Amino acid sequence: MSLDHHHDEHGDELLKSEDFQKARREMRRVLWRPGVKPDQGVSITRRIFLNRALLAGTAAAAASAGWLPRINTLDMAFAQEAGGTETFKFAWISDTHLYPKEVNTRFVDKAVRAVKEVQGMDPPADFLIFGGDLAQLGDPVELQVGNEIISELSINKHFIPGEHDWYLDMGQTWNKMFGQSPWTFDHKGVRFIGLDTVSRAQDFWTARKMGPVERMGNMATLDGALGGAWAGVGQEQLDFLDSTLSGWSTDRPVVIFSHNPLYEYYPPWNFWVRDWRQVHEIVAPYTKITNLHGHTHQVLYNEIGAMRSIGMLATSWPWPYAPEGVPALTQPMVRANPGDHFDGVGWGNLTFHAGDRQEVENEYMMWRQDILATAAVDSGTGDNPTQVLSPRPAGR
Ligand SMILES: [Fe+2]
Ligand SMILES: [Fe+2]
Repeated sequence: MSLDHHHDEHGDELLKSEDFQKARREMRRVLWRPGVKPDQGVSITRRIFLNRALLAGTAAAAASAGWLPRINTLDMAFAQEAGGTETFKFAWISDTHLYPKEVNTRFVDKAVRAVKEVQGMDPPADFLIFGGDLAQLGDPVELQVGNEIISELSINKHFIPGEHDWYLDMGQTWNKMFGQSPWTFDHKGVRFIGLDTVSRAQDFWTARKMGPVERMGNMATLDGALGGAWAGVGQEQLDFLDSTLSGWSTDRPVVIFSHNPLYEYYPPWNFWVRDWRQVHEIVAPYTKITNLHGHTHQVLYNEIGAMRSIGMLATSWPWPYAPEGVPALTQPMVRANPGDHFDGVGWGNLTFHAGDRQEVENEYMMWRQDILATAAVDSGTGDNPTQVLSPRPAGR
């Protein structure tokens, strides 16, 4: 995890290039139509409430005197839908970035804590989504460490890969352990879809005579300097998305999981997928569509057209907010204390509420009391005087 790539030249060049700017203007013209926004039923609320610690008896629980602070930052309401569904919960864990245990146990400790908390959910989660970057360097040993930790969970588990899981052996171990993506399943009236947004980098290694370790090392930096715009959905998965949705009524709820955000946040760090425009063309008719993504390791919220996107926490470390493109709808999280490696991280506790107002509610399970910054100076945004927030797309 290198933090010294913020002002990467490759990324800056990409952002400034004529072609990129032209493509960006075109995307905005097509996608961000005035007045188009998610369901009228949407509401964003921030509630803080306390629940009994799930980890009774652990040091962490003792430290918080038996109470675990929890915050609900997003309350996303779906309007009433014909056809019954029932309320249920599911959980998200991602970006554990595990090293072999003899190298570093910090990340193992945090992944174990998240898994224990998910296992302790009451009522239990119906399933877990693992959102990618289980390993740090794609090492089968790292993936096996993660497999063992997550196997402690008795609920159903569904996996999508991150770039850190992939580029040592091009996904061979991942696919063997966790199965291939994309996939889809229906659960209690909601269609869930998992995408692989990481495996489609252009070959930068063969011509440079790079071995697998060097290739993986390059992909493991924040800017993926040589990897360029590696994050993408790809034509096959666009077709998969299209055919999967075509059998689903446009007013019924859909949740799409992806490692990278399905919109353009900050391309130099691959905080996007390069073909996000095509994704939005496909999902445009659907009125209750939510994207949950990892990779950005930070609290994020955005709306583009009728789709809302939620950036989930990592268990490993929080990335800083990008120097531009942070969606203006995002209430940024507080700056984490670098001296406390349990700070700024956590997992996601999601509830799908049935009833008149169907809603997906995301609760950021961050291991601290105050999660959202109340002033720019308290968050990772506002550090850089040139930082540019993106206005609400539909408000342009
Ligand atoms: Fe990550
Ligand atoms: Fe990632």
